[in-house]
Amino acid sequence: MSKVAIVTGATKGIGKSVAERLLREGWQVIITYSTDTQNAVAVHEAFDRIAPGKAHLLQADISDMNTSITAIDDFLNAQNLFPDAIIFNAGLTDRSDFLDIDPENWNRVFNANVNFPVFLIQKLYPRIREGASLVFTGSLMGIHPHSVSLAYGVTKASVHALVKNMVKFLTPKKIRVNAVAPGFVDTEWQKTKPAAIRENINRKLASGRFCSPEELTDVYMLLINNQYMNGQIVVCDGGYSYQ
Ligand SMILES: NC(=O)c1ccc[n+]([C@@H]2O[C@H](COP(=O)([O-])OP(=O)(O)OC[C@H]3O[C@@H](n4cnc5c(N)ncnc54)[C@H](OP(=O)(O)O)[C@@H]3O)[C@@H](O)[C@H]2O)c1
Repeated sequence: MSKVAIVTGATKGIGKSVAERLLREGWQVIITYSTDTQNAVAVHEAFDRIAPGKAHLLQADISDMNTSITAIDDFLNAQNLFPDAIIFNAGLTDRSDFLDIDPENWNRVFNANVNFPVFLIQKLYPRIREGASLVFTGSLMGIHPHSVSLAYGVTKASVHALVKNMVKFLTPKKIRVNAVAPGFVDTEWQKTKPAAIRENINRKLASGRFCSPEELTDVYMLLINNQYMNGQIVVCDGGYSYQ
């Protein structure tokens, strides 16, 4: 029987790459997305050609915490699936200037990036298989306060703290929990960055370029598969320096 993974935000960028790798390695994968249904259906069809019947598409907008948790739980119940891995990858930001931040948007980012995973794990706990692996997408911006978004930097730092704090609560079921903290990855997320800013970033990277989703996926696979990795935040930033 194939192992089961949930990958949130799996129809583009990092999540899509991780989902595709899992499918190619024989996993069943529940791929979630929020609003771009046309793209999600196309990705699902492509995944189905790679691994027929193994990818399950589910719309679950994590900024609506309760609805998305219920959607995922209902889906697992209906299909009688027990996750061996959950990749908490989807994340939100709010790029408002500090003086313009409003509590509603602040809470939206916290709900999606921090509260959603906590309460999804709580809800699914009886269903998550013993020995499972949870992997979060953190961020370099959660380690060094360079984010243009206050809510983003603070929530990604919270994600890293969550990973470390969750270890003891998940140990009774031998569930491991880790995070990847990417630096700059070539995805749609980065497309709005002006060329001059990208060039400036490239100059600060020892690698001289952004990371590809595929090379970042290698790090997720290490954390999914390696039975000794637990409570770790693995930075993958191409040698970023802060000059
Ligand atoms: N790219 C980077 O340089 C970078 C660096 C550090 C950390 N990260 C983190 O990596 C993660 C993925 O980023 P990415 O660059 O791969 O982004 P991306 O290419 O924009 O892909 C985002 C994916 O997440 C889904 N998504 C967006 N909002 C969602 C929501 N509210 N609920 C559920 N799914 C949602 C999207 O679905 P729709 O198309 O339907 O919206 C899409 O499948 C995020 O947590 C981000 O903070 C990225």
